[in-house]
Amino acid sequence: MNNKRFKTTAWGVDEPGQNFKQFEISRRMPGHNDVHIAIKYSGICHSDIHQANGDWNKSKYPMIPGHEIAGIVVFIGKNVKKFKVGDHAGIGCMIDSCRKCKSCSNNEENYCDKGAVLTYNSTMKFSHCPGYSENPEQCEITYGGYSKDIVCDEKFVCLIPKNIPLKNAPPLLCAGITVYSPFVYYGIKKGMNVGVAGLGGLGSMAVKFAKAFGCIVTVFSRTNAKKEEALKNLGADFYIDSNTQNITNKCDIIINTISANHDLNYYMNALNVNGKMILLGAPSKPFEINAFSLLIKRKSICGSLIGGMRETQEMLDFCGTHNLYCDVEICKPNYIYEAYNRTVKGDVKWRFCIDVNAESDPEDIGLIPIPL
Ligand SMILES: NC(=O)c1ccc[n+]([C@@H]2O[C@H](COP(=O)([O-])OP(=O)(O)OC[C@H]3O[C@@H](n4cnc5c(N)ncnc54)[C@H](OP(=O)(O)O)[C@@H]3O)[C@@H](O)[C@H]2O)c1
Ligand SMILES: [Zn+2]
Ligand SMILES: [Zn+2]
Repeated sequence: MNNKRFKTTAWGVDEPGQNFKQFEISRRMPGHNDVHIAIKYSGICHSDIHQANGDWNKSKYPMIPGHEIAGIVVFIGKNVKKFKVGDHAGIGCMIDSCRKCKSCSNNEENYCDKGAVLTYNSTMKFSHCPGYSENPEQCEITYGGYSKDIVCDEKFVCLIPKNIPLKNAPPLLCAGITVYSPFVYYGIKKGMNVGVAGLGGLGSMAVKFAKAFGCIVTVFSRTNAKKEEALKNLGADFYIDSNTQNITNKCDIIINTISANHDLNYYMNALNVNGKMILLGAPSKPFEINAFSLLIKRKSICGSLIGGMRETQEMLDFCGTHNLYCDVEICKPNYIYEAYNRTVKGDVKWRFCIDVNAESDPEDIGLIPIPL
């Protein structure tokens, strides 16, 4: 195995809740099956915030977050078939899996029996992974996309259609696939009433996919602040301020993207007979559920975790065909901490993406205006 490495710049934290700082990290030199991507933009998913803050009690530090990665292919190993130099390429939440279990054989690496190798805060734990060691303590730790370069086996890299602007592409690799996958699995179709709870990165993409699938969409948000954007720009049909309004619309499905602890019973009331609550958000505390909210009208609660590699490519191709992507605010690496605080407050339309090559002058506030 090739043990040569190269250095690159990255941004991360070495304890929970800390301001971000610049690190020099090393990545492996690309092997025969690898693609080397010069990262251009990296999305800030709320899961990065949960992980950097240690909300899920599984955080390893120092941590370089980032699993919404978009960039340009600068080198391919000799066995690589799907990519050529100059292609736009993306990496999402996984960079490897066991490749043997039923889920992996079924193109659902996201549900790998042994747990996929995540893009960061994970280890290269399978014997076929570069950086594997028989001593689990010595398996290479994975570092994510808040960085200038990444090297990955082509199996876990997706091709980004060139009509999708690269700055808008990163959120598709996590937020996009996470909301797209339930549409396919649960057969959400034209004419169905779809509710979207929480209007952030995942929520805004859920509205866009629901409209592209021909659904009638109701947004549930904590305030009225996002009403105009939701109705006019995202194309939602109805908007409910969950703090002040009782539920009136009846949904067949609710895509719940709320990141914080909340009363699920309130949203259960918005479901029709046979309605499904699809949990995508990952609040830290368990839900308290009233049995009657399930019994009455035969409702169910289910969940979904990102999507497999084949489905992620299908979703990107769908986005290319429908010219569909996430609206983003671009920031510099010195703005990550502030971007985290604003995301927690729901103050972003709809995703921050870090321009990893923007100069980080400490005096500069770090936001990069996008021409309208
Ligand atoms: N299942 C998966 O595979 C998967 C993949 C990616 C992310 N996630 C999880 O999905 C969640 C959403 O991620 P995201 O990146 O879309 O986050 P985000 O952009 O921060 O959006 C989350 C939204 O939740 C709502 N919210 C936040 N606090 C709330 C509260 N106290 N009460 C009610 N609503 C609240 C807000 O919507 P309003 O401002 O409109 O109220 C906010 O915009 C996170 O927990 C993340 O870890 C899961
Ligand atoms: Zn994510
Ligand atoms: Zn597996």
